[in-house]
Amino acid sequence: MLAGLALVLLISGCGQSQGGQSTLHAESDQSRKIMHLWWGMLAAAVVVFAGAIVLLAIAWKRRNREGLPAVGKDENVSTGLVVAFGIVVPVVCLITLFFIADIGVVNATSAPKPGQAQMKMTVVGHQWFWEVRYDGSQAVTANELHIPARTSVNVRLLSADVIHSFWVPELNKKVDMLPGHPNNIELYADRPGVYRGQCAEFCGLQHANMAMAVYVDTPARFRAWLANQARPLAPPAAGDARAGENVFMTQQCASCHTIRGTAARGTIGPDLTHLATRKTLAALTIPNDRANLTRWVADPQSIKPGNKMPGLNLNATQLRQVVSFLEGLR
Ligand code: CUA
Repeated sequence: MLAGLALVLLISGCGQSQGGQSTLHAESDQSRKIMHLWWGMLAAAVVVFAGAIVLLAIAWKRRNREGLPAVGKDENVSTGLVVAFGIVVPVVCLITLFFIADIGVVNATSAPKPGQAQMKMTVVGHQWFWEVRYDGSQAVTANELHIPARTSVNVRLLSADVIHSFWVPELNKKVDMLPGHPNNIELYADRPGVYRGQCAEFCGLQHANMAMAVYVDTPARFRAWLANQARPLAPPAAGDARAGENVFMTQQCASCHTIRGTAARGTIGPDLTHLATRKTLAALTIPNDRANLTRWVADPQSIKPGNKMPGLNLNATQLRQVVSFLEGLR
């Protein structure tokens, strides 16, 4: 009874798409194949489990009744049950699942063949953020990647340090990001929406806070977004933002971050050229608003301990100015 209740709760939890990250809420052909395989495996496991419980109950009942080992006809029945449920059923189940999973689902969820994809991009895993680049564009962003709906996108997966794993459950399977060995995955979404992804390979202290969001836009909105992301910085005219740019360039910020169109060319942290267009900071750890941005710049270690950004000990004026500058990066 309790186990049944736990199973129902577990499955209903998987099925709800909270924040758009559920294997059971498929939004592409690839993830639908994975979902159907999962349901099929669950059904097979339930049948096998129920069969085992029935056999156990039969054995228990007989032993209670007789207290003696089976003989004659009983022995033949017992041997038949063992052969059927111990050998025939598992062999049939495993071979069927092998053909469905390894031949059907693996092929259907593989990266597109050369020339088949309509668009190419690269995602690089870092401790602990995702660097996102678009082939044929200057655009570089982080953690929030945009793709057009109903478009086959071939994503090249790389790592800058340790092994990460790229996983957007509603769109496709998980694929490891290995240092020195590029992998590929296809992203394709049926319709516009936001789909959450999560690093699925333990990669250090902030592995759990290495999330991403895939924004699926209409093709027209995507083109407009990409054109804006490709532009270099439009320098702030005056005021706090102008002073903040100076703080950014003269303090340590510029040695770790790139802002295209300026002298800041660091590659340790995310590209910040259009930081203000992102909804979140620190790989979806906090919302991107003035209060959180200020907290983050003032003391990044208190929000995401172990990350590579040091506290810079800016005074209150410098902090206000640099935040105003960052807020203008649209
Ligand atoms: Cu990156 Cu776990």
